[in-house]
Amino acid sequence: MAVYQIVKQGDPVLREKARPVSKINANILKLLDNMADTMYDAEGVGLAAPQIGISKRVIVVDCGEGLIELINPEIVEAEGSETDVEGCLSIPGVQGMVPRAAKVKVRGLDRNGKKVELTATGLLARALQHEIDHLDGILFIDKVTEYVK
Ligand code: NI
Repeated sequence: MAVYQIVKQGDPVLREKARPVSKINANILKLLDNMADTMYDAEGVGLAAPQIGISKRVIVVDCGEGLIELINPEIVEAEGSETDVEGCLSIPGVQGMVPRAAKVKVRGLDRNGKKVELTATGLLARALQHEIDHLDGILFIDKVTEYVK
């Protein structure tokens, strides 16, 4: 178990386009474990690898229904629109309203390299979009329509 320090806004790694994972090896498995530990320690609902300084396309999400680990995640379908409040572990103390697709279909690989596809709505859809944005160097403050805190 290892809890990493979360990279804060202003660090250039948060603005990089993260590289796809070409091979799921022991380092990637360790990365997934450490990302989950870091997310739970920080009481977040999602974390992307750039947030611990690793520019790879790996995310973890847990909106209260169990841990989801995704390698090379992609949004393949998005529909509807919903605006709700968001924050980010890399931007402490700031929250704002962000419009997101209401429903998304996401594809990626699990830790065994198996293709997974999931359809999400509500908070899970929002968290997946937020974390996948991190992999493209996009932060929620780029999309915020109104700050609430
Ligand atoms: Ni974030």
